[in-house]
Amino acid sequence: MQIGTPLSDSALRVMLLGSGELGKEVIISLQRLGVEVIAVDRYENAPGHQVAHRCHTIDMTDAVALREIIESEAPHIIIPEIEAIATDELAKIEVEKIAEVIPTARAIQLTMNREGIRTLAAEELGLATSKYGFANSLDELIEISKTTGFPCIVKPVMSSSGKGQSTAHNEEELKHCWDYALSGGRVNHGRVILEEMIQFDYEITLLTVRSMNANGEIETSFCEPIGHRQEDGDYVESWQPQVMSKSALQASQDIAQKITDSLGGRGLFGVELFIKGDKAYFSEVSPRPHDTGMATMATQFQNEFDLHARAILGLPVNTALHSIGASAVIYGGMDAEGISFSGLENALADPDVDLRLFGKPEAYLRRRMGVILARADDTDSARKKAKQAADKISTHLLV
Ligand SMILES: Nc1ncnc2c1ncn2[C@@H]1O[C@H](COP(=O)(O)OP(=O)(O)OP(=O)(O)O)[C@@H](O)[C@H]1O
Ligand SMILES: [Mg+2]
Repeated sequence: MQIGTPLSDSALRVMLLGSGELGKEVIISLQRLGVEVIAVDRYENAPGHQVAHRCHTIDMTDAVALREIIESEAPHIIIPEIEAIATDELAKIEVEKIAEVIPTARAIQLTMNREGIRTLAAEELGLATSKYGFANSLDELIEISKTTGFPCIVKPVMSSSGKGQSTAHNEEELKHCWDYALSGGRVNHGRVILEEMIQFDYEITLLTVRSMNANGEIETSFCEPIGHRQEDGDYVESWQPQVMSKSALQASQDIAQKITDSLGGRGLFGVELFIKGDKAYFSEVSPRPHDTGMATMATQFQNEFDLHARAILGLPVNTALHSIGASAVIYGGMDAEGISFSGLENALADPDVDLRLFGKPEAYLRRRMGVILARADDTDSARKKAKQAADKISTHLLV
């Protein structure tokens, strides 16, 4: 792999499809390595747009618009950062060797749909998962609930961040879950997964990197496990490392190795697992940096974005931790455009506390607008510090 000079004939051009807060950090990591970066998103002034060499606003689910932008920018590498993309078109782009898709077009296609990845994990690879089934109607849902039992969780097969996801405690509640799922899915309205509720002790994200070593061979490395807490299917705080038994960690790494081996390509993956005792259950996997992994900006020599960039570029990686730390989400607190943040001096008074404000042009009540990062001697103190600092920040609309 060679890296040229940005904005010259020798430039190595990378295009991000999706340029939110995670994409923004990937762009910064790439630019530190001298890569020319083109950021694409569905709305103007997205976080990644604000730091890229060039930016575009298109509907990325529109195959024609997607191909047009790829052909005109001629990137060498395409990094999908969200799931709502015309992935069939990406597969064609890969076959036609127009650009390399990270990690692979197949991995992107499989993970955008819960059915693809769950079938691969549970049925082809034999990984432990919750009991599950897919349904196209309320009647089918009721039938599957006889296998999963109650409580169980209904999710649209295409959705993220907990959208359209709800829990049923009995058969009567399935009707509400079915209606709710129909309203929250991305496309494919009418197909859902029903999952047994795993009564886990805790859940983790195991950041797993497929990178090239100095001999040009693919190597798999694991970050220390990240513990996290979710509310309504969306993460509110995360910490690293999550303390685990040796056998639970080994089981988690085995699952992460198998699923990432099967998905292939180069890059960082966020493998989501539920842990009960010494047993690990595979939940899902992102073929890209993970929101809970923002904690690595406080804890690792190479954070998850640096690792993704290095792995994509065929460079060796270091997944070591330098500190114990945590992250806590800062919400919009209101539905408004162009909001302001205050209380920052207080939040940052502790030298072990850091802040990222994503620069999103529009806030919603529960939209993630920033994140606090904190370091401490143990994870409980780091979580507490992060939460206290996040609470000191308030949002306003200047009139
Ligand atoms: N089968 C399950 N048993 C127990 N808890 C579950 C189960 N499925 C989901 N959850 C809980 O809901 C959270 C969100 O679920 P999931 O990751 O499937 O949704 P998502 O919409 O893909 O979210 P994201 O895109 O933020 O990862 C999980 O992290 C977990 O806390
Ligand atoms: Mg998830």
